[in-house]
Amino acid sequence: MRIVWAVTCVLWAALPAQTAVVPTKSSEAEFEWKHHNNQELEQVLKEVAERCHDVARLYALNKPSVRNVPLWTLELSDNPGQHELLEPEFKYVANMHGNEVMGRELVLGLAHHLCQAWRAGDPHVRKLLSITRIHLLPSMNPDGWQLASDTGGRDYLKGRANNNSVDLNRDFPDLDRIMYSNEARHVQHNNHLMDQLRGLDHQPQPETWAVMKWIMGTPFVLSANLHGGDLVANYPYDASRSGAAQEYAYSPDDSTFRHLAQVYASRHPRMSDPHRPPCTPGDYTFGPDGGVTNGAAWYSVRGGMQDFNYLSSNDLEVTLEVGCDKYPPASSLQQEWLDNKEALMEYMWQTHLGVKGVVRDSLTGQGIPNTLIHVKNITRINDTHVRDEDINHDVTSVHNGDYWRLLVPGDYEVTATAEGYLPLTHTITVTNPPHQEALRRDFDLAPLPDDSMLRQVTGEDEGGEVYDTYPRGQEPNLYELPLEDDLLGRLRDMDRMPY
Ligand SMILES: *[C@@H]1O[C@H](CO)[C@@H](O)[C@H](O)[C@H]1NC(C)=O
Ligand SMILES: *[C@@H]1O[C@H](CO)[C@@H](O)[C@H](O)[C@H]1NC(C)=O
Ligand SMILES: *[C@@H]1O[C@H](CO)[C@@H](O)[C@H](O)[C@H]1NC(C)=O
Ligand SMILES: [Zn+2]
Repeated sequence: MRIVWAVTCVLWAALPAQTAVVPTKSSEAEFEWKHHNNQELEQVLKEVAERCHDVARLYALNKPSVRNVPLWTLELSDNPGQHELLEPEFKYVANMHGNEVMGRELVLGLAHHLCQAWRAGDPHVRKLLSITRIHLLPSMNPDGWQLASDTGGRDYLKGRANNNSVDLNRDFPDLDRIMYSNEARHVQHNNHLMDQLRGLDHQPQPETWAVMKWIMGTPFVLSANLHGGDLVANYPYDASRSGAAQEYAYSPDDSTFRHLAQVYASRHPRMSDPHRPPCTPGDYTFGPDGGVTNGAAWYSVRGGMQDFNYLSSNDLEVTLEVGCDKYPPASSLQQEWLDNKEALMEYMWQTHLGVKGVVRDSLTGQGIPNTLIHVKNITRINDTHVRDEDINHDVTSVHNGDYWRLLVPGDYEVTATAEGYLPLTHTITVTNPPHQEALRRDFDLAPLPDDSMLRQVTGEDEGGEVYDTYPRGQEPNLYELPLEDDLLGRLRDMDRMPY
């Protein structure tokens, strides 16, 4: 297989550009497996957005890279450009380490594949795009890619960082520190920890800012972040509790995260192969562990993007190391795509795990944003024992009251708590049938009597911290929410912030 593909690629490379299969308006386009430079990356995404304009939209994050390359993102969904009630949002981010380039090509290839499969009427892709809003950022660090590529792509570190020599996967606010300090003080708070951030010890890079704003302004439910240099799916936490260099760091969603990592690893022909040799002779091989690892058990990382997603937003993120070779030859890319395609697809379907629903005011029927959705695991273990365990990581409903809570199968008590309302609990059984939407449970919350009187007197609207500057029914499209101002506003007064 590998040799056949290599020959195909050599042939492609040898042909003049005009005879290579060039997309035309009428015929279906081909995707060329090669290392696309930053202009070609933009071109591929533009072509996909044009060819699939009914389900695709190209946009750039709000800041370009240090060297002014836009962070192009392709959105794919049946109604591109808007968040739809109850439709969960997903993202793939690749190439944040500029010299780890395979994920960049895989995500570009995926964009092309989703578009072609949609056009061909593939029922799985049609269903996925109609029930999921997918965002693809093939390169978070185009400047690092440029440096790695200009210098031959063989150096283990050259091009890893951005153009200010900052490793973007150490550049996010260290919310693990806040979370562990909450734990030590027996404070239950374990979500949306940007609210607790009182200062930053450094100015984040533009690429990091852009992604932070994106994370906080989009209701992502699930994501993955593609790297290279090993072959393993790595899940939170990335930072150890004690500060040890290597130590398993359980998160409240450990079971769900392990499942998510296993979905990817088990669909990849080599990641979970127990007989696979290590990437570097003598090194550890994750094959016998099923191709998955807890982040901190491998090596502790502070300021990483994976834990930032989990601790700042409703998103669950896994880090995928998609190959031993950080900069593999172009001739290997098509086989790599075939090896990763099913894993990439099946992982996106996981956006539909668990339970979702709408939280509403029982009197007016209006959606309630910022409701805390708390889950307790009450799964029966055996004849005598029922699990009775709070999962200490709440998610929040977004601006029309919709929420998503990824969960592995089990029995759960789900409680919705919103300011000014009586809390409400539903008991659910999660089974996660494959390729189906999540179980639906809505919450119709009864207003607290005295609170509604208070509201009448003051004319105040209920609602939580983040969105309550918008009157009911006048909330802007979540995508356009000027959250950066909100975020920057909160950060502006802090030490060492030159904003
Ligand atoms: C920044 O980019 C320029 C142009 O690609 C390159 O010459 C320079 O080495 C880069 N600097 C760093 C620190 O990456
Ligand atoms: C709930 O408990 C069951 C039984 O112990 C377990 O299999 C499952 O993973 C738990 N769910 C979560 C989300 O932790
Ligand atoms: C049921 O599970 C509990 C908790 O894991 C264990 O302590 C107990 O021994 C089990 N009982 C039986 C009958 O298997
Ligand atoms: Zn990396």
